[in-house]
Amino acid sequence: MATGTADFVVIANRLPVDRITAPDGSTMWRTSPGGLVTALEPVMRRNGGAWIGWHGAADENLKPFEHNGLHLVPVPLSDDEIAEYYEGFSNSTLWPLYHDVVAPPEFHREWWDAYVRVNRRFAEQAAKVAKPDAVVWVQDYQLQLVPTMLRELRPDLRIGFFLHIPFPPAELFQQLPWRRQILEGLLGADLVGFQMPGAAQNFVRLVRQRVGHKTHRDMIYLPDGRTVLAQAYPISIDAAGFEELARTPEVIARAAEIRESLGSPKTMLLGIDRLDYTKGLRQRLRAFGELISDGSLHVDDAVFVQVATPSRERVDQYKILRDDINRLVGRINGDVARIGQQPVTYLHASYPRSEMAALYRAADVMVVTPLRDGMNLVAKEYVACRYDDRGALVLSEFAGAASELKGAYQVNPHDINGMKSMMLEAINASPREKARRMKAMRKQVMENDIDLWASNFLRELTSVRDPHAKNPRPV
Ligand code: G6P
Repeated sequence: MATGTADFVVIANRLPVDRITAPDGSTMWRTSPGGLVTALEPVMRRNGGAWIGWHGAADENLKPFEHNGLHLVPVPLSDDEIAEYYEGFSNSTLWPLYHDVVAPPEFHREWWDAYVRVNRRFAEQAAKVAKPDAVVWVQDYQLQLVPTMLRELRPDLRIGFFLHIPFPPAELFQQLPWRRQILEGLLGADLVGFQMPGAAQNFVRLVRQRVGHKTHRDMIYLPDGRTVLAQAYPISIDAAGFEELARTPEVIARAAEIRESLGSPKTMLLGIDRLDYTKGLRQRLRAFGELISDGSLHVDDAVFVQVATPSRERVDQYKILRDDINRLVGRINGDVARIGQQPVTYLHASYPRSEMAALYRAADVMVVTPLRDGMNLVAKEYVACRYDDRGALVLSEFAGAASELKGAYQVNPHDINGMKSMMLEAINASPREKARRMKAMRKQVMENDIDLWASNFLRELTSVRDPHAKNPRPV
């Protein structure tokens, strides 16, 4: 197969921008949703290379193009493939299965067939774009078959894979009818990265049990002499970039304006999430509603601003969630609002980064309560924006970020009473206590930023396999 010119290639289901068609037929580009794009954009900006991904619209064949200094290589998806590969296998089978089955996963053979077909297309595109001996970094659960497919086409490449979401325990993963194919797909990589050490251990154990390869700690030994390393690399954000944005006069002014338009409450609580059933939106809104209705918080004193970014809107579970949250917000506001004082401000919309930074600056308490989350970058963004050492973070112990952000008020989102008391504790903590916690979290986030994450992963990837040596790390 002919080779390309890029010596560094990232493959993700999405490009960093979505192609949007306005009602008048004109098209424009908008930043894609989600943490993967937030994290990887600065990495690509600094490292150069090509980004292969889908551009968010159906049935369009676009040529590679430059956008904001990034070289983007679009992969087309048909309407049926969006339904079966993206909404189906990726987001109605793998997504719920990998998130502790908080919604029931669905298993359909046609969805699997589409997943295989689309993964092959991504692998073929990467094989065309990558230069001899290039580094190719495959991202996330939508593309778990790409490493092996790509290795078959281009054995010269160094292939890394990173999973942005949790990797489930064997007991859950085993439900998947195609469990062995997924494990074998990932084993095409030289380095398989996870958010948490437990996820890497789950993977290695499954490979040993289900595929029968020899393993030792984080190393897997393949029969052909190749080795695969499975390790944790907790992802981060462009922390300095967020702080810089939060320090701009425009963002500071906008933060003041937000508080004023909310009626200058004593306490502003904030949630920012994709509208997803893994995020624990119901639980946190219920907890806040009860704090008002049982008199622990006064409606004149506290407001909760919840931003829910639209996501995967044609998938049934997301439609159900959208209706549920609309009803819940309506009920809380209907029960406890007074004229001019609405306790929950609910915004079903996506906002630019500067508006997010203003919201983070404005909020006294950030509430991040997923039922399960690979990392959760919103929690880190909030911390990066609080250069004033003020504010408090209420954080679910089921988010990957909980193992790093020890200064957070940690909660079990299933325990509504526990969450209520922790929210109160965060609201009522002394400025000194809040500053102590925030300082500790800021140290962690500012020191472990996205550049460090990427360079740690890429350094290990280039040292783990010298493409000219067969087995650099003997048993
Ligand atoms: C999570 C996933 C990403 C995904 C993002 C947005 O962060 O790990 O792979 O891109 O959600 O979801 P979407 O389905 O809109 O791409």
